[in-house]
Amino acid sequence: MSNQQKVYPVRDDFAAKAWADKAKYEAMYQQSLDDPEAFWAEQAQRLDWVKAPTKIKNTSFARDNVDIRWFEDGLLNVSANCLDRHLDKRGDQTAIIWEGDNPNESKHISYRELYARTNQLANALKELGIGKGDTVTLYMPMIPEAAMAMLACARIGAVHSVVFGGFSPDAVAQRVIGSDSKLVITADESVRGGKHVPLKENVDSALTREGTDVCKNVLVVKRTGGDIDWKEGRDIWFDALVDKQSSECEAEAMGAEDPLFILYTSGSTGAPKGLKHTTGGYLTYAAMTHQYVFDYQDGEVYWCTADVGWVTGHSYIVYGPLANGATTLMFEGVPSYPTHGRMGEIVDKHNVNILYTAPTAVRALMAHGDNVMDSSKRDSLRLLGSVGEPINPEAWEWFYRVIGNENCPIVDTWWQTETGGIMIAPLPGATPLKPGSATVPFFGVKPALVDNEGNILEGATEGNLAILDSWPGQARSIWNDHERFIQTYFSTYDGMYFTGDGCRRDEDGYYWITGRVDDVLNVSGHRMGTAEIESSLVAHSAVAEAAVVGFPHDIKGQGIYIYVTLNDGIEETDELKKELTQWVRKDIGPIASPDVIQWAPSLPKTRSGKIMRRILRKIAANECDGLGDTSTLADPSVVDQLIEHRANQ
Ligand code: WT7
Repeated sequence: MSNQQKVYPVRDDFAAKAWADKAKYEAMYQQSLDDPEAFWAEQAQRLDWVKAPTKIKNTSFARDNVDIRWFEDGLLNVSANCLDRHLDKRGDQTAIIWEGDNPNESKHISYRELYARTNQLANALKELGIGKGDTVTLYMPMIPEAAMAMLACARIGAVHSVVFGGFSPDAVAQRVIGSDSKLVITADESVRGGKHVPLKENVDSALTREGTDVCKNVLVVKRTGGDIDWKEGRDIWFDALVDKQSSECEAEAMGAEDPLFILYTSGSTGAPKGLKHTTGGYLTYAAMTHQYVFDYQDGEVYWCTADVGWVTGHSYIVYGPLANGATTLMFEGVPSYPTHGRMGEIVDKHNVNILYTAPTAVRALMAHGDNVMDSSKRDSLRLLGSVGEPINPEAWEWFYRVIGNENCPIVDTWWQTETGGIMIAPLPGATPLKPGSATVPFFGVKPALVDNEGNILEGATEGNLAILDSWPGQARSIWNDHERFIQTYFSTYDGMYFTGDGCRRDEDGYYWITGRVDDVLNVSGHRMGTAEIESSLVAHSAVAEAAVVGFPHDIKGQGIYIYVTLNDGIEETDELKKELTQWVRKDIGPIASPDVIQWAPSLPKTRSGKIMRRILRKIAANECDGLGDTSTLADPSVVDQLIEHRANQ
């Protein structure tokens, strides 16, 4: 609690040089709400348009008419904005610093080189018959080719769908089918923490699944030279095809509302949904937030530790930084390899000025004590950022003191796959910091706290976090399922975008995200639907029923706690627990590994058969004394059984 009262004022020297100080933030924020048309018309000018937009905002959140359009009559190309327009001024400047998993491997890629290779790849895609409106799935390591592939798709108007390289073949298959991908771009293997992950083998396996025959080709980057199977006629080596292409490829003039990418994310129900992000508004918003929230100054080295498989990688490794002509660092490996000092060593090696990472990474380092950072000085750092989950004040303080040498403001950035870019965060030259709070809304963002009936609550209070009006970066739909988009985000509270998060607002108007209020888990900053894990488990022949809840976990933020009811006659053994763990890992991916499996002879249900997760969450958190009202349960004795079982395992 004492930490939560602590305020870190904005340093005068920081404010003096920053893109925005307090007065500027307040004036711009006010204008963005008073006259969004004028505000965003001006901001759109940060991009190069083939045809400048005259229609700025045309958006409706009404339940019966969710329709979101920004800059709709404008034409532009995202890759031209990230590459071509920088060539004159900064062709020789490094666009991407790539740091390999192996500390002896790194390279610098200039804007000119990135431009040339992306253009070659764009021509290669055309040769494979990919054109405007086609979808391409990317299942790639953290290597420059991943960024090139995204930009090459954008260049020819193809829509990319990046699938995180830690996902299973089934997950890849589901996404190839869902997005109708004609092509998959992958690598033979990825390398993380010294271990090889068989990406190509996973793609091979994915493409044996029914329905995946939409996919005609697999383009394979040779990363490790590891042994792989080869399907003649379908598989093509990346370098062989790309090397022979021209390094000039005309950029397709895209409508501002043409799709740029699909990105799958988990929700509280059903299969992962493919959020659809479009072109003009997304890039305007990604670029603007990158500039202001990270206070990015020309020539600085900026490092976001996310993977391009997540939205953070899209907006803040690739699109935002490159649109701004930044030098963006891309790290192939994991922060703990070869030693826990690696993150600091990378900062020193490449003179990183801005470091954007996740609370789970900070807590993992913190667990090793202050000395864990002794192998580096980190003098180059000027600003730190956090994303993915609430950062607890203890981790915030450690991040500030040990990693940042008490010299760097921390921007805690709240946003979502759906929002496209940062929504609530301090501007480091403008906003005093409170450890644990994402602080105040970005330009154009109108947050509201609402009660369960949808009444907007005023002042210092707590409620469900909704957003009252559109901003340019937001997702426009769910791919091929606009109805589900409306249902998921706009039907809970009419006229508002519902985030799924709970939140508190303090007396200074600062926002404190309290976590999801739906059945979505946040494990190490990775979002997962409990329903997804449950449906995986019940597909196992031994399982009759399963219920998945989150529980507090020191490093991961939340851990995965699973209650399993077995079919009659199946024995509750440790071997079976291991088997179920493997089952889920194989089905979804290692990020969905259960932390605890508890046998549950039966699950607590209401008389109408609904599982009471509230009770399961309490038992998982070992808060068995405060279970609350159990009188609506069909059979209250189930709860005692579960508590007893918990103690006995
Ligand atoms: C959910 C979105 C968008 C970046 C990566 C995650 C949680 C994200 C914060 C933060 C508190 C946060 C929310 C949100 N979240 N950032 N700074 N403070 N919570 O994207 O996978 O779409 O997950 O992550 O619960 O709803 P995502």
